Amino acid sequence: MEVVIVPDAEAGGELVATAMAQLLGRKPAALLGVATGSTPLPVYRALAAQVAAGRADVSRARIAQLDEYVGLPPEHPESYRSVLAREVLEPLGLGLEAFMGPDGTATDVQAACEAYDRALAAAGGVDLQLLGIGTDGHIGFNEPCSSLASRTRIKTLTEQTRIDNARFFDGDISQVPHHVITQGIGTILEARHLVLLATGEGKADAVAATVEGPVAAICPASALQLHPHATIVADEAAASKLKLADYFRHTYANKPEWQGI
Ligand code: F6R
Repeated sequence: MEVVIVPDAEAGGELVATAMAQLLGRKPAALLGVATGSTPLPVYRALAAQVAAGRADVSRARIAQLDEYVGLPPEHPESYRSVLAREVLEPLGLGLEAFMGPDGTATDVQAACEAYDRALAAAGGVDLQLLGIGTDGHIGFNEPCSSLASRTRIKTLTEQTRIDNARFFDGDISQVPHHVITQGIGTILEARHLVLLATGEGKADAVAATVEGPVAAICPASALQLHPHATIVADEAAASKLKLADYFRHTYANKPEWQGI
């Protein structure tokens, strides 16, 4: 996989937004898979700025959700559907018709998960999937020891992930749901291009395990090593524990520009 080390989160956001804009230039109705959390926000801001500057056309883009809390009504401000409407759809001028996601309030959760996997395939598959990474190496909400072949399904969040996410619920962990629907690792690996963005020192161990550790379910993001087109974009702090950081810098600095990421 390719590792691109950028100075800071804003530079990472600009780089990934540019990759999305270039993809949409080649394929205007591309299906972009998007994550929630803090890390991707600079990407969404940069893409909206590129649209405003006339450098990106997202008018035919389609957006697919990576994961969703189970039991939060869609209109709850912290349901991931609401978050993505606020952070992605509205700034890009897209409506809900451009959006697809799993139903976190379905009575039959398993059936909703299977229906979402089918819907993704019927939509032609995800062209570019943006991922964040948990401090424990999770992608989507595939917590450690998730099957590397898993499909979209219900998962139980670890206590650490609920603590990490309490900041979105007024710091009150009791409000953070225990369960989520997440695209499985096998589902995620079907996207044509995976872009994992990691920023901040808190992600440094997880990034090192993802890139330089073995492919192992204990670090779900290490499954990206199996993908033919996976890009890790890490800021200096998140890349600080990579043994091969200088090699990655050298390789990217000498990459043919036309190749993009
Ligand atoms: C959320 C998701 C998670 C987050 C991860 C990092 O949709 O897929 O894997 O990307 O928990 O969260 P932040 O970016 O808030 O550190």
